[in-house]
Amino acid sequence: MLILGIETSCDDTGIAVVRVSGKQKPIFEILSNVVSSQIETHAPFGGVVPNLAAREHLKNIAPCLKTAINEADIAPKDIDLIAVTVGPGLIPSLLIGVNFARALAYAWEKPIIGVNHLEGHIVAALSSENSKLFPAIALVVSGGHTQLVLVKKIGDYKIIGETRDDAAGECFDKVAKLLGLGYPGGPVIATQAAKSKIKSQKLKVNLPRPMINQKNYDFSFSGLKTAVLYLLRDVGRSTSNIPALCAEVQQAIIDVLIDKTLRAAREYKAKTIILSGGVAANEELRKQFESKLQTTNYKLLKFLVPTKNLCTDNGAMIAMAGYFGAKRHPAQRDNSWKNIKANANLRL
Ligand code: KG4
Ligand code: ZN
Repeated sequence: MLILGIETSCDDTGIAVVRVSGKQKPIFEILSNVVSSQIETHAPFGGVVPNLAAREHLKNIAPCLKTAINEADIAPKDIDLIAVTVGPGLIPSLLIGVNFARALAYAWEKPIIGVNHLEGHIVAALSSENSKLFPAIALVVSGGHTQLVLVKKIGDYKIIGETRDDAAGECFDKVAKLLGLGYPGGPVIATQAAKSKIKSQKLKVNLPRPMINQKNYDFSFSGLKTAVLYLLRDVGRSTSNIPALCAEVQQAIIDVLIDKTLRAAREYKAKTIILSGGVAANEELRKQFESKLQTTNYKLLKFLVPTKNLCTDNGAMIAMAGYFGAKRHPAQRDNSWKNIKANANLRL
């Protein structure tokens, strides 16, 4: 079975072709996964500007489709299902992908299924279907979301905690903007933080770990950004301070994410931890999760994290989620293109 996955919820235009084979235990094979990034468009603003994002999606989506189909070496007639992100996300961005997918489904006479972007992030960590992984705790950390999700099985999701203000990726982005480091913030802060390990730093920074001691699974990252703002006022934005500051911001975010996720895994007797979303591309976060899980208490917990290109927004994860969605709701698979609608505030 061939699935075309279409993703335009934020600032990446993603189109992919995924082959699903095997009946009992379906295996995913990504034949193409084309992502057109809009970093240059949004960089001057330090964040995503929704209308500019929509304009870029409009420009890029048809060429992305052509490349995805060529790279996969298939013809449109071979496609069995079109999967498209219907939410959550920025409505101007979502509308471009949704209408494009509707047009394709209509013109090519193909079934179409709407996908929740967050389910896409969760299933991106799976290379096949495996019931032994559940229950799992998924930490979805991106520019728009920070959520802890109890996954009883694929399709059965319960949000047990989420951010009360900024998402973790948003915190990286806002701090980078304060430091004049550009956009997106996550990768540049990670690079600066790595420099702090090499040099011995004069500046000793201690930032808060927001809500780490609270007995719930919620997060709050806006205070961290404010703490950096005050610190900069006191110590100045000298370039020599930047690596130490970045290392501490990154570590504060990592400490809170790992602590709350492990606590949730223990309470819900999870067999697996899934780490996903754009922030999951962070090398230190991945490494520190792995090493924490090596301790005797957690050794039995499986740790799944997608390859970095599957952490950030892409069409392959939407195709995979489309497969599971169609399996859960066979009737939906034959849904008319007319019923596929964007919903900016869609919940899991
Ligand atoms: O999942 P994603 O591509 O888009 C959303 O759904 O939001 O995530 C983008 C976010 C941005 O905030 C970006 O700064 C962050 O992921 N990010 C990272 C890294 N790469 C991307 N954060 C920390 N470290 C990284 N290496
Ligand atoms: Zn995302």
